[in-house]
Amino acid sequence: MDKIKIIGGVALKGSVEVSGAKNSALPVLISSILGNSPSYFKKVPDLQDIKTTEAVLNHLGITTQAGSLENEIILDSSKTISFEAPYDLVRKMRASVLVLGPLVAKLGKAKVSLPGGCAIGARPINFHLTALEKLGAKITLENGYVFAECKRLQGNRVTFEFPSVGATENIMMAACLAKGETILENCAKEPEIKDLADSLRSMGAEIEGDGTETIRIQGKDQLAGAKHSIIGDRIEAGTFLAAALATQGKVEVKGLDPIHLEAVLTKFETAGAKITRAPKSITLEANGRSWGTDFQTLPFPGFPTDMQAQFMAAMCLADGSSVITETIFENRFLHVPELMRLGADLVIRSNAVHVRGKSELIGAPVMATDLRASASLVIGGLAARGETTVSRIYHLDRGYEKMEMKLKSLGAQIERVKE
Ligand code: EPZ
Repeated sequence: MDKIKIIGGVALKGSVEVSGAKNSALPVLISSILGNSPSYFKKVPDLQDIKTTEAVLNHLGITTQAGSLENEIILDSSKTISFEAPYDLVRKMRASVLVLGPLVAKLGKAKVSLPGGCAIGARPINFHLTALEKLGAKITLENGYVFAECKRLQGNRVTFEFPSVGATENIMMAACLAKGETILENCAKEPEIKDLADSLRSMGAEIEGDGTETIRIQGKDQLAGAKHSIIGDRIEAGTFLAAALATQGKVEVKGLDPIHLEAVLTKFETAGAKITRAPKSITLEANGRSWGTDFQTLPFPGFPTDMQAQFMAAMCLADGSSVITETIFENRFLHVPELMRLGADLVIRSNAVHVRGKSELIGAPVMATDLRASASLVIGGLAARGETTVSRIYHLDRGYEKMEMKLKSLGAQIERVKE
């Protein structure tokens, strides 16, 4: 098993291009189920979660093939596809549950394993199931599987209990092949929702309001294949900018729209950094040591929970204290004891962490527990004096493409070594 070795203390400098967004690529690739001809996707990041998604789609009978360009994939769902997504695949990546809506919409039935628990929270799928029932699906749970059946989904008005990203995506896809109009309310507004809607529109879907609380979908009898290029990964971009802040450097991230990360950029400015926004890039220039900054995670356009751990790592070295409140997931502080191994001063109080900034962290062996926690430990190691090793980096590979090479190009002393 690999681990990452870092000699910290180098101020990161330079420019880096972000990959396609993981949290857009997963639902977009899955939406190819709905098409009657091949789908062509560009800027698909080379990640473990993408490989798992391909394995799920292959299991359904959808063929995948690399395109002529790097990060290009062709998916062909025009042949007969199966309706079952097994536990062995879904347990590897809970986003596989997003096949449920498209399968029942296209085939009139689906058998999908329940995803089970996750390190950061219980993460049930009740909002997905309640909404599918509103579109006329008969849902039963048996032996750890969801069975959904419906001759043809019927358009309806659905109000989500919470603006869930996954539920909005699952039902928006299903509604594209339902009979009549579907109106979704209290929807998630994340940029990845809009990117999925753009890809569905390239298949002939009729969707309005994506990116707002209310989305309207006119169902179609059939859809063609997609032609779509995935948006840049705002969380990857935010991770590199947090590393620049923690190491008191200057970094430009290219390949995304700054508006997708505005809540985080505002907090970087509150922490004393200079932020330059350009049409397709963001530059963070640290102004010496940062200042303690409070924030709470919220659905978009609020501060993303997927940046909580990385920003916390930077605040461990700030001048002053920070109170960081997690409102989305009930167990997303697994990085706290590991950051404390680097000498950080952190106290957990129910769903908040009180950070007392220190002038320095000291390198140590630490262990990754989930995707964003692993990124925060890499940031801690980059800022710490001496050597840090981060183990269990399979968590990192799920969501970051070539992370250590990109950090090396910014001057980091970092390498991947065999355990
Ligand atoms: C997506 O997860 C992202 N994953 C997550 O990113 C991200 O943290 C999350 O949205 C919030 O922004 C992907 O896009 C693949 P939710 P998702 O449904 O769709 C509760 C990363 O690091 N809920 O918006 O699963 C749920 O438990 C990952 O890249 C229900 O109770 O998130 C959570 O507390 C981690 N019932 C809250 O809502 C439901 O049916 C938000 O979940 C659905 C959700």
